[in-house]
Amino acid sequence: MKRILKWIVRIVFVLLIAAFLFVFISYWRSTNDCNRLGTAPQNPMKAIVCCDYGLANLKLADIEKPVPNDDQLLVKVRAASVNPYDWHFIEGTPKIIRLMGVGLRKPKDTRVGVDFAGTVEAVGKNVTNFKPGDDVFGGRGGAFGEYVCPRATRAVALKPSNVTFEQAASVNIAGITALQALRDKGKVQPGQKVLINGASGGVGTFAVQIAKSLGADVTGVCSTRNVDLVRSLGADRVIDYTKEDFTKSAERYDVMLDNVGNRTLSECKSVLTPKGKYVLIGGGGASEQGLLGGLGKALWAMLFSKFVNQQMGMMMADPSQKDLTILADMMQSGKLKPVIDRTYKLAEVPQAIQYLEQGHARGKVIITVE
Ligand SMILES: NC(=O)c1ccc[n+]([C@@H]2O[C@H](COP(=O)([O-])OP(=O)(O)OC[C@H]3O[C@@H](n4cnc5c(N)ncnc54)[C@H](OP(=O)(O)O)[C@@H]3O)[C@@H](O)[C@H]2O)c1
Repeated sequence: MKRILKWIVRIVFVLLIAAFLFVFISYWRSTNDCNRLGTAPQNPMKAIVCCDYGLANLKLADIEKPVPNDDQLLVKVRAASVNPYDWHFIEGTPKIIRLMGVGLRKPKDTRVGVDFAGTVEAVGKNVTNFKPGDDVFGGRGGAFGEYVCPRATRAVALKPSNVTFEQAASVNIAGITALQALRDKGKVQPGQKVLINGASGGVGTFAVQIAKSLGADVTGVCSTRNVDLVRSLGADRVIDYTKEDFTKSAERYDVMLDNVGNRTLSECKSVLTPKGKYVLIGGGGASEQGLLGGLGKALWAMLFSKFVNQQMGMMMADPSQKDLTILADMMQSGKLKPVIDRTYKLAEVPQAIQYLEQGHARGKVIITVE
């Protein structure tokens, strides 16, 4: 017995050393294509690149203009929008994402930005649903640059004629998240009471309008300066979190959408009806991410949900052409109006992200790409 134990300890020890060496070697081998930046591109375009983790390392560079493959579009970007998603990748936080393939020492993918709106300049030979000259919007890695090449069947749709490129660029991540969280995860029904914590930010401003269009009775939570904005988006009631604690109220909600993640699960459960649903979207600022960030709360919610009658869990948005088209139709019919806080130039992406990282954007932060 003693011998077996000795061998188990030895094997565990060797495995630990091997794992350590593996992580150590992978860390130092982790690299990206920034070494190419020294050589002049044959067909240059301007883009923001992120060679090393950290906002201070973002730079505007001349890189090779992308060439669409048979299934892609070449889109000249007119506007892009900034999401917390971007700072997660730029800062490499929460740290766990570095282990999940984002790049241990340096970001693997050096192009940043996702949400874009622009004009199709060329299409691959298999593309039948778009043509050069179409104005489009959607999501594709590298949106903080003059061109992107989205796949024609993925997250890209025709831009409604009644919205600007800036408004259209604001939609992809925040609009799809709000739609899928309320419709698919929250299963919001007409007449139900919906609480939106963080109603004045990127996701929140879309969520208030989408919840209203689903027929819900909507309560939004925000700070004093945003009360009028949230009311103007259609919220039936607005709770100013600097004056009132929504978890102390007697009101009960069928669905709570949580864009902030600043309350405990028990507090959130306490505002739900007996069969209510809590949908966690995200939370925590750039400096509060640690190893797991919002994922820690998501795991906890999965466990917590097993012991209560209410459904509590996180949702991850799934970029889809179908949902972008639904959002485009809502904008065209006037049911959905993107809210734009500030606009920055392409070279000012670091300042735009720094502003978003403060956690108090009113609607969406936009980048114009000339
Ligand atoms: N799961 C997914 O697929 C997914 C998709 C998109 C985003 N997310 C996550 O969702 C979160 C929200 O994204 P976002 O784009 O909406 O971010 P955002 O635009 O930066 O949200 C900022 C908003 O949060 C509000 N806020 C800050 N503290 C608050 C508090 N204590 N109570 C209520 N509101 C508060 C601010 O309102 P005041 O200025 O009035 O305080 C501000 O309007 C982020 O954590 C993001 O990473 C997740």
